[in-house]
Amino acid sequence: MGSDTGAFPAGRDVPPFIVLEVVRAAGALEATGRRVLHLEVGQPSTPAPRAVLEAAQAALGSDLLGYTTANGIAPLRGRIARHYAERYGVDVDPARIVLTAGASGGFVLAFLAAFPAGARVAVTEPGYPCYRNTLLAFERVPVPVPVDGTTRFQPTPALLEQAGPLDGVVVASPSNPTGTALTGSELRDLVEWSSGRGVRLVADELYHGIGYGDPPPTALAFGEEVIVLNSFSKYFSMTGWRLGWMVLPP
Ligand SMILES: Cc1ncc(COP(=O)(O)O)c(C=O)c1O
Repeated sequence: MGSDTGAFPAGRDVPPFIVLEVVRAAGALEATGRRVLHLEVGQPSTPAPRAVLEAAQAALGSDLLGYTTANGIAPLRGRIARHYAERYGVDVDPARIVLTAGASGGFVLAFLAAFPAGARVAVTEPGYPCYRNTLLAFERVPVPVPVDGTTRFQPTPALLEQAGPLDGVVVASPSNPTGTALTGSELRDLVEWSSGRGVRLVADELYHGIGYGDPPPTALAFGEEVIVLNSFSKYFSMTGWRLGWMVLPP
């Protein structure tokens, strides 16, 4: 923990992403012949969908697979826009969609684009450590917001008020590690609180489609100023493909 601002230490002092150390240690054990039950990363037990595998095989044989435009190929961006219409009833212009190297690559681009060096960005504790690490690596300042069972491990406007001045907030619903999701009205409150204060809300929606009960709403339903991150890793079971997307403000 850092100074009296309550922020993590800034600069190059980036803590390790310990899960990858566990992956390495588990792999070393497996190499010695031990059987390892892997629970360390969120790895779906299924392969990519059959239609994806077939399309990829066809593309390998027929497509040059060269450079694309910076924002990614238009057919996929258009199809993702249609996904928002079909799943959420939300209209998203494909021009707002940018394909990324997984959500992880999206964090880098989003944090660099949205926040200047030194910007204070709220992240929940507990939370997915890569938000903090990516912010630190690029000299943005992650501001820890402790959450517990009283708010189902999600941030609220009241908790954000206690975090001091903020430039941004990262919200993950469903969250890693707790799995809890924000309701529509809770997410709306956070979007409205943020936009009313010039605080950029970054919503990690990677676990949409994996859950019980009603599907969680997208932050895009409540405002155009949010940045949404998502990827094909979890719901589409494509972690190794490193393919994700961002939806950016117009
Ligand atoms: C909440 C959350 N966001 C992002 C990621 C990384 O996603 P990607 O594989 O798209 O980089 C993970 C991976 O486990 C995650 O749990």
